[in-house]
Amino acid sequence: MASREYTEKSGVSRRSLLGAAGAGLGGAVLLSPQTAFASSAPQLWTQPDHVGTPDVHGVHLQFGSDASREVVVSWFTPQSVARPRVLLGSAEDGFGHSTPADTATYRDAASGTEVFVHHARLSGLRPDTDYMYAAIHEGTTPMIASFRTAPRGRAPFTFTSFGDQGTPTLGKLGTSSTGSQIYVNDNLGSPAAGDTVTGIERVAPLFHLVNGDLCYANIANDRVRTWSDWFINNSRSARFRPWMPAAGNHENELGNGPIGYGAYQTYFTVPAPDTDAEVKGLWYAFTAGSVRVISLNNDDVCFQDGGNSYVHGYSAGEQRRFLAAELASARADRDIDWIVVVMHQVVISTADRFNGADRGIREEWVPLFDQYGVDLVVCGHEHHYERSHPIRGQQPNDTLTPIPVATNLSTIDTSQGTVHLVIGGGGTSAPSNALFFDPPQCRVITAVGPVGSNGKRPPVYVNEDAPWSAFRDKEHSYGFAAFTVDPGDRRGGTTSMHVTYYAVTGPFGALTAVDEFTLVRPRRDGAPTP
Ligand SMILES: [Fe+2]
Ligand SMILES: [Fe+2]
Repeated sequence: MASREYTEKSGVSRRSLLGAAGAGLGGAVLLSPQTAFASSAPQLWTQPDHVGTPDVHGVHLQFGSDASREVVVSWFTPQSVARPRVLLGSAEDGFGHSTPADTATYRDAASGTEVFVHHARLSGLRPDTDYMYAAIHEGTTPMIASFRTAPRGRAPFTFTSFGDQGTPTLGKLGTSSTGSQIYVNDNLGSPAAGDTVTGIERVAPLFHLVNGDLCYANIANDRVRTWSDWFINNSRSARFRPWMPAAGNHENELGNGPIGYGAYQTYFTVPAPDTDAEVKGLWYAFTAGSVRVISLNNDDVCFQDGGNSYVHGYSAGEQRRFLAAELASARADRDIDWIVVVMHQVVISTADRFNGADRGIREEWVPLFDQYGVDLVVCGHEHHYERSHPIRGQQPNDTLTPIPVATNLSTIDTSQGTVHLVIGGGGTSAPSNALFFDPPQCRVITAVGPVGSNGKRPPVYVNEDAPWSAFRDKEHSYGFAAFTVDPGDRRGGTTSMHVTYYAVTGPFGALTAVDEFTLVRPRRDGAPTP
């Protein structure tokens, strides 16, 4: 391998790195200090030999538990690489501090391919601050991007959310109706899976919540390529702002890890509690401003047999104990106003002939959401957009029908009840917005039958009326929701969260506001001291 030395001391500027990487010449390059990103002194750069070295691939970010202080930078390669690390800096001062990345691996059980994922944890960051960074390993071009840390305390910011994306790529050689060989998408993807990313970048949120069913690798011919395609498509957003995921049923891949989430668990480093490696990262929480976000994996409690393997009950109550403890501590925290849950399968849906809602979530999670006053739940699984009225309590029937506590469509007090949003139009080729019951009803999976000839447990459905149904978007298949937090201006006053659901069309992410409303609740800093 040719020499590939360069300096990492303070002062290597963004433009300098770009200049060196873009020069395409071997040998040493003397970097100029005359850059747009002020540099303190000339630096020596030796152009690496690229042959045989994998690129810095699929760069994506995750927040730590405190989004104002910690960010993890991640990327992956098909082989081990030397000295994976992240150089951190700012537009004003250039790159300085170098943080080594830890490398995690998994071997895809279907292909035997091993994937090496590099995670560099950047700690001790300043709140509400823009940083530049360069992700790099030996012998390749650095990937340079930026991020912004969350504000600390009560401050305005915007986040976004969708689920059920897939990829806009072709992964399988098939046969056309005329017998010719053509490539097809085999992971429920469509061109819209690219458009929605462009749409997110138009809003440029602080972070994006991904409500499960990320890339549908578990049904794809080439799972590793499918994950790669997903990260390539999304890195144009996820390297600038954390995409914080929840695992969906399509993250369950046969043979990958003890319960099927090994790929998902390897690609992401989320702020998870200390648990057995088998379940690590499947549930976690983080704080941004006055918002506590809790991510859950619903396959633990759902009846539906929706993954490659049936893992109902896999945590033996550990995830529920985490949720109860997280909710109790968030509600006792006078700095936290909003509790937002991101998860995949749904408590409410008015689509016919699709998945439906799952009684398992209504049994296991919803009483806790009620007890601790969760404000907002975002999910996917159903491939459309709809929202509920605020719900609290359940009817004593077979389906545990949620009870709406208010019907105002424009302003909703979430201290009275939890608003659920289904945001499953991230880009799949199988939208469900044309399948709504009219008038609204809900198919609820209340149990599963014995394993059938296809190896799956068939769902047992019970239909219910849907008095909790507030809005459905019948017209558009794809989009995302944006949430803008306004902390309010006085202690003990009201804080609000303005919500807009945008339909997305076209390669430039054209946005149409389809549904707009405002969530309000009392600030917790006015609560009596316990
Ligand atoms: Fe899905
Ligand atoms: Fe799903």
